[in-house]
Amino acid sequence: MKILLLNGPNLNLLGKREPDIYGSETLADVEKYLREYASQCDCELSCLQSNAEHVLLDAIHQAMGSIDGVIINPGALTHTSVALRDAFLGTKLPFIEVHLSNVHARESFRHKSFLSDVAEGIIVGCGTLGYKLALDALIQKLKH
Ligand code: DQA
Repeated sequence: MKILLLNGPNLNLLGKREPDIYGSETLADVEKYLREYASQCDCELSCLQSNAEHVLLDAIHQAMGSIDGVIINPGALTHTSVALRDAFLGTKLPFIEVHLSNVHARESFRHKSFLSDVAEGIIVGCGTLGYKLALDALIQKLKH
């Protein structure tokens, strides 16, 4: 099984960025842990972070036919990007949306997601553990 982990804008700053909200682990730590965990589950995980919306869109397009499912933390694009929504609708790639923080307990502009209603699942407010939970959930869903 092949899974793609996508992280959007500012998630390259994980560990340095607002650690009271996003924690002290870096994205490199998260990706390393998740790659190892995926391989224990007979899964191959590829990882991409970008601050550019079009890079994420291209990655989703390229994943069509070669990747079984996607885990995405779209960062602030969650709340603005019709294009990401359309990319998932257009490719029909199953995906799980992850947010480190509980976006529903934050500013009201973070309550709206353009992706949630078309996601297989959503994991919110569980910190970096959310990525592992998403991987477990996606593997289960793809097996059935
Ligand atoms: C985030 C929440 C978003 O509102 C924010 O813009 C981010 C990170 C999260 O993981 O909690 O960049 O997606």
